[in-house]
Amino acid sequence: MADPRLTAPPALRPLYEVPAVAADLYEEVADCPACILAKTRTHTVPGSGPMPADLMLIGEGPGQREDELGLPFVGRSGQFLDELLGTIGRSRQDVYVTNVVKCRPPGNRDPEPAEIAACRGYLDRQITMVRPRVIATLGRFSMARWFPGERISSIHGRALRAGSTWVVPMYHPAAALRTGSLREVMKQDFQQIPALLASAPADEAPRP
Ligand code: URA
Ligand code: SF4
Repeated sequence: MADPRLTAPPALRPLYEVPAVAADLYEEVADCPACILAKTRTHTVPGSGPMPADLMLIGEGPGQREDELGLPFVGRSGQFLDELLGTIGRSRQDVYVTNVVKCRPPGNRDPEPAEIAACRGYLDRQITMVRPRVIATLGRFSMARWFPGERISSIHGRALRAGSTWVVPMYHPAAALRTGSLREVMKQDFQQIPALLASAPADEAPRP
């Protein structure tokens, strides 16, 4: 398989930088056979950004462009996400971004519970390494980890404290691209992030 780093648009190249602490994890993901998504992926998409990072975003799973490039959120959803981050003065290079499954579900179908479970250990380890002050979940699959049984339409934008990390559920950017009115809702929800970052304690207590 050709190395996508060689053909990726230059602006994306910094996102391939592997945090030293995650080198083993990224290698394990690259060879992971643990669920059926391994059979159809082009590239694994472990995540992007620095470790540690104060802000972590967790989406659903790679789409077509992500599978081609091996980077999260680099298609249309990613463009909107970049715009949202810009409104709070942040950029992709200073935020850790990943998904609940690291391989593309074929045809962009929803990830299956068994796939999310098989991939969960990687996400757990990433959270431990990132040590975020704020986690924003993007869409219902990452939301379900902290808010089981809740509806995103009821709880989006409402932060929950998990240990010393704030977890704030957000709509998925793809939903906002489908339903224009959600774009403004997402922008408003994002505006809470700076205050949450500022209010989180600077202690070293265990995070989720
Ligand atoms: N949608 C996601 O949930 N994750 C991506 O990485 C891209 C699109
Ligand atoms: Fe492994 Fe996760 Fe990819 Fe499944 S989705 S093969 S568990 S890395």
